[in-house]
Amino acid sequence: MSKLNRRAAIGTGISAAAALSALPTGAYAAGDEVIKVGLIGCGGRGTGAASNVLHSAPGVVIHAVGDMFESQAKNAQRSIRNMADNEPKIKELGNKADLPDDRVFWGLDAYQKVINSGVNYVILATPPGFRPLHIEAAIKAGKNLFTEKPVAVDGAGIRICMKAFDEANQKKLGVAAGTQRRHQASYIETIKRIHDGAIGDLVTGRCYWNQGILWSRPRREKMTDLEYQCWNWYNFTWICGDHVVEQHVHNLDVLNWVFREHPVAVNAMGGRSRNNPAYGHIFDFFSAELEYPGDRHCISQARQISNCFNAVTEFVTGTKGTSHVGGSTINGKPVVTPAMRRQQTDPYIQEHTDLITSIRASSPINELKNVAESTLTAIMVREAAYSGQRITWEQALNSQKTYLDVSKLSLDMKMPEWEVAVPGKTRFS
Ligand SMILES: NC(=O)c1ccc[n+]([C@@H]2O[C@H](COP(=O)([O-])OP(=O)(O)OC[C@H]3O[C@@H](n4cnc5c(N)ncnc54)[C@H](O)[C@@H]3O)[C@@H](O)[C@H]2O)c1
Repeated sequence: MSKLNRRAAIGTGISAAAALSALPTGAYAAGDEVIKVGLIGCGGRGTGAASNVLHSAPGVVIHAVGDMFESQAKNAQRSIRNMADNEPKIKELGNKADLPDDRVFWGLDAYQKVINSGVNYVILATPPGFRPLHIEAAIKAGKNLFTEKPVAVDGAGIRICMKAFDEANQKKLGVAAGTQRRHQASYIETIKRIHDGAIGDLVTGRCYWNQGILWSRPRREKMTDLEYQCWNWYNFTWICGDHVVEQHVHNLDVLNWVFREHPVAVNAMGGRSRNNPAYGHIFDFFSAELEYPGDRHCISQARQISNCFNAVTEFVTGTKGTSHVGGSTINGKPVVTPAMRRQQTDPYIQEHTDLITSIRASSPINELKNVAESTLTAIMVREAAYSGQRITWEQALNSQKTYLDVSKLSLDMKMPEWEVAVPGKTRFS
């Protein structure tokens, strides 16, 4: 992509051509520096992202890993070394893992040690509650960044991300987010056609992440309260954001991308019927009405209850037709041919290819504002459902409601008693 096209792509997703293109071979563009990756958060997605970046472009080395738990960090060291030594595509690209024991870190300050270890590209794959703290530290230290979604769990965290977005731009750092649909050719092409007028002016939309109950991890021997909640993180709002933020952010991001705006207000409801403390205090379901500028209203559903109708996708309607965006159709006709689908690069790899290509071309992409806006959209749904109030964008962005200040944690601290939110009683401020 030319620099101009690359710039134009910021905020609207990368072009379909880029997403469909083969990996750049030997193309270091302006910068020939090796991409030295530091991974923070060594769970399923973190080790997955390490594999993805090793498959994404030549000249990539995994240089350091860090996790809150020693076992997680050491397991990642082992598995990343193993994949780098054995996977043909990684070897073909000349990429490797250079992970001596003294660059494997654990503890609450592991993120800072990874950032200070000589890396120039940081991957953040911890639970979302830590994201603003880690994003702020990485950008402050001048690192390019791949950050998993969501990027915060409350308004205060979003404000940190918005500042980091500006700082990254000033420092010309690249930032890509794990909203991988923005790097998926089928989405890019469908949304491009919508933006080109294929269904006229947008009127409404709907999006879903409805699935069965997800996971809970039992407490391990000798775990402190904090360690237990960081381990079983999915089920605590201070660290997960609740599933509407943690997962449905993907679909809300698609609506914001299609509408090229974020909602001005949200009215939502939700509740919890599971009665098992292993699942913390999160809700089972959320159902929301999102108000976009121009009096355009969309609906969203996020449910995690087993044995129900499941759907993970998005639809929009315009003055001249409809699109099943997640299914890549416009007025019932497929946008993407089977041949295009076969050619489509894995978006989890493509997001790193796009970021690295942009860094090497000295025209870094910065997706932090988009993902922060989509995260805040999801936070609005959660807080509207928890409180039973209609919440405006400004209220959410300026909110003083924080669940926990993660910059002040200690392993043996006393954790607050979390309660299930009660609409009409739980306050949003
Ligand atoms: N883009 C996607 O499709 C996608 C898919 C899966 C997960 N994710 C995101 O990736 C993130 C991680 O999810 P996961 O499934 O890998 O979870 P996981 O539980 O498998 O891994 C999280 C890791 O972070 C570690 N951790 C917790 N607190 C930490 C801290 N303060 N400092 C350092 N390490 C810490 C945990 O010990 C664990 O190893 C989440 O934000 C999730 O939403 C994105």
